[in-house]
Amino acid sequence: MTYDLLVLGGGPAGYLAAERAAHGGLSVLLVEKRAVGGVCLNEGCIPSKALLYSAKILEQAKHGASYGVKIPEASLDHAAVITRKEKVVRTLVAGVKAKLKKNGVTTIEGEGILKGRNSEGYLLAVADTEYVGKNLLVATGSVPVLPPIPGLKESIDNGYALTNREILALKEVPATLTVIGGGVIGLEMASYYAAAGSKVTVVEMLERIGGPLDAEIAEALLVQLKKKDITFILGAKVTAVGLGSAASPETVVPSASASMTGVTSASVIAYEKDGRTETLSGDKVLVSIGRRPNTSGIGLETIGVETERGRIPTDDQGRTNRPGVYAAGDVNGVSMLAHTAYREAEVVVNHLLGKRDHMRYGAIPAVIYTQPEVACVGESTESAKQKGLDVEIVKLPMTYSGRYVAENERGEGFVKVLVEKGSRKLVGVHLIGSYASEIIYGAALMLETEMRVEDVRELVFPHPTVSEVIREAMFEFPIHEHRE
Ligand code: NAI
Repeated sequence: MTYDLLVLGGGPAGYLAAERAAHGGLSVLLVEKRAVGGVCLNEGCIPSKALLYSAKILEQAKHGASYGVKIPEASLDHAAVITRKEKVVRTLVAGVKAKLKKNGVTTIEGEGILKGRNSEGYLLAVADTEYVGKNLLVATGSVPVLPPIPGLKESIDNGYALTNREILALKEVPATLTVIGGGVIGLEMASYYAAAGSKVTVVEMLERIGGPLDAEIAEALLVQLKKKDITFILGAKVTAVGLGSAASPETVVPSASASMTGVTSASVIAYEKDGRTETLSGDKVLVSIGRRPNTSGIGLETIGVETERGRIPTDDQGRTNRPGVYAAGDVNGVSMLAHTAYREAEVVVNHLLGKRDHMRYGAIPAVIYTQPEVACVGESTESAKQKGLDVEIVKLPMTYSGRYVAENERGEGFVKVLVEKGSRKLVGVHLIGSYASEIIYGAALMLETEMRVEDVRELVFPHPTVSEVIREAMFEFPIHEHRE
């Protein structure tokens, strides 16, 4: 049988595209080598949120007395947290599978390799069987970046060093945890394990955390996380992992691979800071220094799909350089977020179904689910400056919201809004504090629909909610004459 669409990869881009395409009347084959739901559902977004929610409940319980609730000995049962996380993942994976089935998608669990094309279409081999598709969607996602840092590969192999996959399944809480990379994964996992009782140290190459976050928000987050006893070593580039032992840190310094023999269970890393090499010991090391598109070993060359520095370039309809071949999700290396992947998948399917649609990347929200949460959309102060945008900025504490004050005894959350001078259009909204992750979609809508300060002032927000700080912020901009 020749399918209308072959989908390679069953993460958010792949499973949603398969579901929508089948719903639209196309015959669809979905091939997933590991687990339907992909990294997001099985070892990323969802399991990390299950863990972080337990940490949030613990924190609330510990501070219960400030709210008139006495919980004498709140503590975290990590094994129970992991068991619950697994249940959450199972439930959601079952839900995705059920939806695929309901829509008539044929799903195969196995490794798919592209094998060129014939007169009918593109060929995809799974074990000994070859499938043909008139169209193909490559949605193979991303894998952790693991640079050739001495000792890193061996440390991963022997269990010292963990990626997002293993850190979400640790059976025990390590007494000490070193996190390499103060990006999204690093900060979220540092938050959970610090709450669970680990002594956590984050080693970050840059002088700041959170990568492209607005600098002021990143600094506020840093202050909050330090208060939770997370240690940060900034401006420190990790140069070796797990070579030698804490007792003889010199051996950690990148040297001959001879020192690799006899790797001990002590976890030690070396990093360069201010021109000097320092070492740090810890029971486990999380390596969270980014992810890269997963394009190797899937046979892309057999069908002539071009890659560019490991990613598959696409146009705004998800098309690659080959007719009928699309790519969506992390594999295109554009946004590397599950919610972007969903939308990219929909755009591809709409194109296949002959509906007009295209990707717009200007109002994609980003969230870090630490405690406090951080969420943003659009330009930061720094990116606006780089683009030469002339902006007005308003910053307002979340204590302007009655709901926030009612629920936060020690809250230091704030909102920061960037508006283009002249047009008064919103170009960036940044939040740190409770509910930020849930509020940000409203701000994304404002940016997507090109709302101006005056437009937002005329909206009615539910009261009392923390979201009201966005509306309040609008009144901090100079009042212009009311429009006709
Ligand atoms: P990231 O790109 O967010 O952060 C990596 C950090 O590692 C950077 O700050 C970088 O400066 C640092 N780094 C790189 N090499 C280093 C070295 N040798 N020594 C010390 N620091 C070094 O990558 P991360 O956290 O691994 O996340 C990967 C992807 O997963 C991201 O692209 C993100 O989109 C996605 N993700 C999204 C989440 C969310 O939306 N809440 C949650 C988790 C992951």
